[in-house]
Amino acid sequence: MLSNKVQDAINAQINAELWSAYLYLSMGLHFEAEGMPGIANWFKIQFQEEQAHATIFMNYINQRGGRVELKAIDAVPTAWNSPLEAFKATLEHEQKVTALINNLYALAEAENDYATRDRLAWFVSEQVEEEDNCHTLIDKFKLIGDNGMGLYMLDQELGARVYNAPAILSE
Ligand code: FEO
Repeated sequence: MLSNKVQDAINAQINAELWSAYLYLSMGLHFEAEGMPGIANWFKIQFQEEQAHATIFMNYINQRGGRVELKAIDAVPTAWNSPLEAFKATLEHEQKVTALINNLYALAEAENDYATRDRLAWFVSEQVEEEDNCHTLIDKFKLIGDNGMGLYMLDQELGARVYNAPAILSE
């Protein structure tokens, strides 16, 4: 059985994951409209990943006999001046999500809820990967600067990204 405190905190995290999904969908649509289909693809896969994160938490609450509460999702930005600006915003956002996950992990420990703590361990590792992906892409976009050919090639590279559902989704 989940304590009310832990259940409320996971429900807040579900909302944060869905907001992240909404943010990356908005970025995907923006870059699609700007004629950068590869970057759009990268963000739309990110959108799917965030939906998966929310679903993992929803499944977990139900597995533990709790109640999922879906709350309103706040509006997200709709335009960015460049891919570099969008990826910098992504990194900044993911660093905030990492802090939320760490706070949730600390709460689970304080409440002696070791099952929740173990489930959160997957998210702790996932955040390392998310932040690392952003750093790598920010470096690449800085390197190409205003070079149109470089941007074209990086757009092609990001167009090759495919979505892989995490195994934990079916647990
Ligand atoms: Fe669900 Fe990007 O963290």
